[in-house]
Order: sequence, then structure tokens, then C-alpha cells
Amino acid sequence: MNNALDFSAWAKHQQSRVEEVLDEVLPSENLAPQKLHGAMRYSALGGGKRVRALLCYAAAELCSTDDSVADAAAAAVELIHAYSLVHDDMPCMDNDDLRRGKPSCHKQYDDATALLVGDALQTLAFDILSTPELCSSANQQISMLNLLAKASGSLGMAGGQAIDLDAVGKSLSQQELETMHQLKTGALIQAAAMLGAAGGTLAQISAVQHFAENIGLAFQVVDDILDIEADTATLGKTAGKDADSNKPTYVSILGLDVAKQLANTLYQNALDALLPYDEKATRLRELAGFITQRSF
Ligand code: IPE
Ligand code: IPE
Ligand code: MG
Ligand code: MG
Ligand code: MG
Repeated sequence: MNNALDFSAWAKHQQSRVEEVLDEVLPSENLAPQKLHGAMRYSALGGGKRVRALLCYAAAELCSTDDSVADAAAAAVELIHAYSLVHDDMPCMDNDDLRRGKPSCHKQYDDATALLVGDALQTLAFDILSTPELCSSANQQISMLNLLAKASGSLGMAGGQAIDLDAVGKSLSQQELETMHQLKTGALIQAAAMLGAAGGTLAQISAVQHFAENIGLAFQVVDDILDIEADTATLGKTAGKDADSNKPTYVSILGLDVAKQLANTLYQNALDALLPYDEKATRLRELAGFITQRSF
């Protein structure tokens, strides 16, 4: 079926799939409070690479997870991610005016709306994933909710963001940098893959975890590289922002060449985790290639 498609056709198909789910679950902008709903849709729809949704769907293919569970998980993770970007761009954080090729949420609307958009997208994620009888096993569904909560909170993404803000102007050790990146970006990427793997055997879930630990870190290493190497038009967000803001990154600490070598080592480690699996892991392997070799 889907295996007949090349990677970009497969990715396009899954991107439309999650877009449809998001379009359905996000309240209409005609529903009060209209401004908040309009801003939520502005921030969550019609943009982004949807890498987290793709990871969720690719892990679901390996693990034969139900489509409805994968849809809810993919949409939930993309909503948490969209919320994190809205807050990340605010003047009190990275103060970025451009996101996904459009004015960032607080520029298009205002700071208070952006704050509320983040709050409401986050709770909508948990709303979707807690839909009664989404999973045949209530225990499995609670475990999925718990996994997403942990990945998003102070020991996951939000904690990583706190470390990132605190690190401005400092020179971190490579270990400290890795911890920061694993939390601010790796945690949610891992959650995306692990939620997609919900229907798998213990061996499959453990392989996906090992894969995702490596590819989650690789994702942020490449984000740091692209901040230096790509231009604003290609990225759809302001290039060169990390150096301008004095943020420690893999490039500032290791240099461009070593950062690239590290991304490649993490890619190889991610592939190694999938060695026992045949074509059912093809999409995960292809995604790992996309994540580490992307130009935007
Ligand atoms: C950007 O994430 C923020 C990071 C965690 C590095 P993405 O590069 O996945 O952003 P979109 O979703 O494609 O816009
Ligand atoms: C953002 O990291 C990570 C989260 C939003 C959790 P960055 O600040 O590097 O992301 P970009 O470069 O603005 O997309
Ligand atoms: Mg940031
Ligand atoms: Mg930022
Ligand atoms: Mg960045």
C-alpha cells in the first residue's frame, strides 16, 4: 500500500492527514471567543514540516498501531509543538517576528493572545488524546497521556526552554548543551515516536525509543546548523538569530564541521536501532535521513 510511494509522496500524504485532523479539532474562528480561535488556527494550521506527526505515523507503521490512535497522537504532539513555538517567539523569550513564513502569533495578534493561544493549544492536545475510548485499553491511553505530559513539562520541553533562556551569554559544556537540547527539542520528538509506537511489542518500542533519542538530538543539532547556514526565506524564520542573541548552540560550542559530524553520527546510531526491522521501518529510516539532511 503506502510502501509503493516514495518518501516525499508518503510525507505529503501524512501531512495532509494530520492537517485534516487538526482542522477538525480546532474550534471554528466563527465560534466565540473568535479572536482566540482565529489565532489558534493561524498558529497551528497550514505550516511547518510536521516532522513530529511524520515520526508518529512512521513509528505506527512499524508497530501496527491503530490509525485512529496514531491520528490523535500526531495531532496532539503537533499542537504541543505549535504552542511551544508561539511562546518561543514572544518578546519575553526569543523575540522573533517571523514563524513559518508569516508574522509570529504575537505580531499578528498581540502578546496576551499569544499567551492564551499557547495555553489553549496545549490543553487541546490533552483533550484529543483523552477522548473517551480512543484506545481499546484505558491503561494504554493513560500511559500515552502520561508520556506526553512528562515530555512537555518542566522535566521535558518547558524545562529545556528554561535552561535555554538561562544559558544566554554563557558557554555551556557539551554535556550541558546536550541536556538542554534533549529537553527542549528531543523530549517532544521522542514522545511523537513513542506515541506512534503504542501498539508495538516491547522490542519494537525499545527500538523506537533508541532511534528517537538519537534523532531527537540530531534534529536540534541541525536546527542550530541551519540557523547559521540557511537564509530567512528558506527557513521561514529569522536566520542568524542564535548568534545575534548570544545563545550557546552546537555550532557556537563545537564549530560547524564537528556539529555536522555529530549530526551524522546520531543519524547512524538511529539507523542502527532499526537494524532488526525490515521494510516496516522504511519510513523511520527515510525520516531520519530527511531530518539530518534537510535544508529548512
Ligand atoms: C522548530 O521546529 C523548533 C525546534 C524545536 C527546533 P521545526 O523545525 O520542527 O518547526 P516546524 O514545525 O517545521 O515549523
Ligand atoms: C525552540 O528552539 C524549541 C522549542 C520551541 C521548544 P529554538 O528557539 O531554537 O527554535 P527556533 O529556531 O526558534 O525555531
Ligand atoms: Mg528558543
Ligand atoms: Mg526560537
Ligand atoms: Mg533554533
